[in-house]
Amino acid sequence: MIERVAELSGALEAERVRGRVVGLVPTMGALHDGHLSLVERSAAECDTTCITVFVNPLQFGPGEDLGAYPRALEDDLRRAAGAGAGLAFAPPVEEMYPGPVMTTVRVVPLADVLEGEHRPGHLDGVATVVAKLFAMAGRCRAYFGEKDWQQLVLVERMAADLSFPVEVVGCPIVRDLDGLALSSRNAYLAPDEREAAPVLFRALRAGMATVMAGEDDPAAVVDLVGSIITAEPLAQLDSVALVEPRTLAPATTVRGELRLLAAARFGRARLIDNLGLYGNAMMGT
Ligand code: PAJ
Repeated sequence: MIERVAELSGALEAERVRGRVVGLVPTMGALHDGHLSLVERSAAECDTTCITVFVNPLQFGPGEDLGAYPRALEDDLRRAAGAGAGLAFAPPVEEMYPGPVMTTVRVVPLADVLEGEHRPGHLDGVATVVAKLFAMAGRCRAYFGEKDWQQLVLVERMAADLSFPVEVVGCPIVRDLDGLALSSRNAYLAPDEREAAPVLFRALRAGMATVMAGEDDPAAVVDLVGSIITAEPLAQLDSVALVEPRTLAPATTVRGELRLLAAARFGRARLIDNLGLYGNAMMGT
């Protein structure tokens, strides 16, 4: 386990000097099987896998759950090692942010739409901390989940725009048996909310099914998904969108590759999910 930036950079450079390919898996800890799927993928494709565990204050808004965010470092280290991670970087806050932050990374307009509308500044905090991790890690492959589709697209764009020698790899969403996407925030759900939460995935699947049945109006797809989520009394709908997968621009037709995304609150947990669609067939996860 590494806590210091200099030590991380040195350890990964030493791996590369020996000709080894480095895989990086950035997380905020409280690891579940979704996170571990990224570690396993990296371990299968790279010679050395480094997981990072850092609850990044910069990506939490005022009134969000920074203080309450689940923390379980010892368990995380054990589980990450079991999934194939050879190194873990878990820095204290002062190591990542030794002084006031004057430089931030902002990916426009990807950070402003969808989640950006509901959580202002959140994706700037994500882009900034991931840019710092990429700068510290150096040449590597970096694994991100499709669960946070907008984050994945934004990180890909940021790495390309800022010329980081990092290949960003997107990985499929890991779900519970009832379809609920695994998330550290599922821990906030009361039993009745946990039972209600798979409505998110059910609604997205219904959206996909209507596309497969020939629906060609993006607004009708979005309305259907929204109405299914709204019909669940314990769900408070935040947003539904059908977008172009890389630009996140609203779809004007139901043609080609698209992403259908939804966000809703269940009690104090705000959950997000998404599905890939292609024309009128399912693609990806
Ligand atoms: P965190 O929420 O801990 O997620 C870490 C990584 O695990 C992200 O790439 C996320 O998309 C992926 N992930 C989470 N749940 C998943 C699931 N059910 N299936 C597949 N992958 C899943 O995302 C963050 O942390 C932070 O924003 C971070 C990128 C680390 C920057 O602070």
